[in-house]
Amino acid sequence: MKTETTIQGLTASLAPARNTKKMIGFVPTMGNLHEGHLTLVRAAKKICDIVVVSIFVNPIQFGAGEDFDSYPRTLEQDSRLLADVGCDIIFAPSVEQMYGSQPRLTNISVGQITDDLCGKSRPGHFDGVAVVVTKLFNIVQPDYAFFGQKDYQQLAVIRQFVQDLNIPLEVIGVPIVRAEDGLALSSRNGYLSAEQREIAPTIYRLLKQAEQSLQEGKALSEVLANISAQLTQAGFVVDYVEARQPNLQSVEQFDRNLVLFVAAKLGSTRLIDNLEVDFKT
Ligand code: PAF
Repeated sequence: MKTETTIQGLTASLAPARNTKKMIGFVPTMGNLHEGHLTLVRAAKKICDIVVVSIFVNPIQFGAGEDFDSYPRTLEQDSRLLADVGCDIIFAPSVEQMYGSQPRLTNISVGQITDDLCGKSRPGHFDGVAVVVTKLFNIVQPDYAFFGQKDYQQLAVIRQFVQDLNIPLEVIGVPIVRAEDGLALSSRNGYLSAEQREIAPTIYRLLKQAEQSLQEGKALSEVLANISAQLTQAGFVVDYVEARQPNLQSVEQFDRNLVLFVAAKLGSTRLIDNLEVDFKT
């Protein structure tokens, strides 16, 4: 496994694979890897000849007062984990390498589907994601790119600009990986105190309960209000509890497949989760 920190180095490392038309898989990450990321790499290994993982904490997707400075940077540990799952190349550029020293005048802004859910509480976040992911796609030029469904809205945004801008690759969404108690794996789980870590799986428990209530015929609005009330009671500060169609369009009642979304803070840690709920006629 090689580690490249420059665009030039990565391009040179990828040249033999590109020249021999090998399938290149790409897993973009911000590092501090966990089983969720490793599952993406394993999925990439299954269908690609060469797997590149980027590790880059992208400053422009963090808002003022968010955790850019404190975001865990654990390259050595990440490298060991990636070697174990058969990653071929790590791309770990500096901020300078990615953004240079000249001001950036170009933005990528996906409309509509970024207007609410996390887009509402994190203005500019998805523009920052779209810019860095597009840059990474142009640098790596993969055939396939892998993203976790935990960041459901992010995945929808990436699929949208890949389609809108004719970026020549296939985006693959990979199901959420959960801890045994149901908590969706996230690098931010590491911020939780022992007490908060015990409370955190409440989100998934309530999502599963909500799924059952919907399938038993309870009204969607009532089910959403109940999740919100129970989260508050458990000590969360709720950002949103919402339901959307899988394409993120609004949904008024449970008369089709939908996705339940939660974002809530425990102390200063913001957790997100989602659950796809199938409508059975
Ligand atoms: O999901 C993430 O870790 C980041 O948003 C991504 C896609 C690597 C872009 O910085």
